[in-house]
Amino acid sequence: MTARTAMTGIQDKAQQGHSHQRPGPSRPSPLYQGKTSFDDIYDQPDPRDYFRGLRPLEYQIPHHAQRIFQRLLPALGAVTGRDQQVRVLDVCCSYGINAALLNHDVTLDDLYHRYTDPRAAALSRDELIERDRAFYARNRLPGAAHMTGLDAARNAVAYARAVGLLDEGFGEDLELTDPSPALVRALGPVELITVTGGVGYVTSQTFDKLLSHIEGPVWVAAFVLRTVDYGSLADTLARHGLVTQRATSRTFLQRRFSDAREQQNAIEAVLATDRSPEGKETDGFYHSELYLSRPAEHAAAFPADEILDRAIH
Ligand SMILES: C[S@@+](CC[C@H](N)C(=O)[O-])C[C@H]1O[C@@H](n2cnc3c(N)ncnc32)[C@H](O)[C@@H]1O
Repeated sequence: MTARTAMTGIQDKAQQGHSHQRPGPSRPSPLYQGKTSFDDIYDQPDPRDYFRGLRPLEYQIPHHAQRIFQRLLPALGAVTGRDQQVRVLDVCCSYGINAALLNHDVTLDDLYHRYTDPRAAALSRDELIERDRAFYARNRLPGAAHMTGLDAARNAVAYARAVGLLDEGFGEDLELTDPSPALVRALGPVELITVTGGVGYVTSQTFDKLLSHIEGPVWVAAFVLRTVDYGSLADTLARHGLVTQRATSRTFLQRRFSDAREQQNAIEAVLATDRSPEGKETDGFYHSELYLSRPAEHAAAFPADEILDRAIH
């Protein structure tokens, strides 16, 4: 970990667009072109295939996000002066992994062990749900946030709801449709939006719709691949009154490349943003960066450097 996490404003400009040809999470955004598809494990009845599939690639971005997201809860309370349960929306929530890590005394390693264990393979979905409900209830942290999840993968969201990781869950794709009335209602009180592994699949289109229905000040904390341009999304957030800062002193390992083609595509994408892939993508891993978007007065009252330093050290 670095000694200090510097933050800078975003200067990059938008480049992204998206197609609307195929429904569901299997429709690749142009920003994700060149990446290996994991669509077959995103919408299973339970998370076992997801963890089995991603373990060999050491997918780990929710682990890096865990401490930072946990640190954002009290920081948010400190600037808003509210001591109620913080309302979080996890975008691309999948099987509720960020909810598990944010609100429970568990690690991503624990989850990898739990869901790839041969004993778990022998269970039916119902048995797994029963076991998970008890596990998450037992490990719940005091001061847990109220969790709403959004993901185009309906089965994944249903699982997260069934085991109690999400208070509310929505299997909707806002790249393709407007939010349902129930989702609109759930968005009103949201104070913090989190996202890992999702930007690129979701674009400014999704965020514009989300932000239009959030009633009060909101923070957006997004871990974003270095191969993805966040400029257009930051512009959209700016139109909703949020100032975006990027942590510049460190990057976060996301996962190993699945093959040489994927690595080459990532290296080219990073070079296209005028940055160097040396010592990062050249070493075999995707790297993500943290972007934090907040109302200007919140950013001034509670400097992002401080939040990140405390989370990281
Ligand atoms: C790499 S996974 C990340 C899941 C989780 N956040 C994590 O870090 O483990 C990407 C997720 O994005 C979801 N997704 C893809 N396209 C989407 C869309 N248009 N709207 C909402 N979710 C989408 C997929 O279903 C999948 O759950």
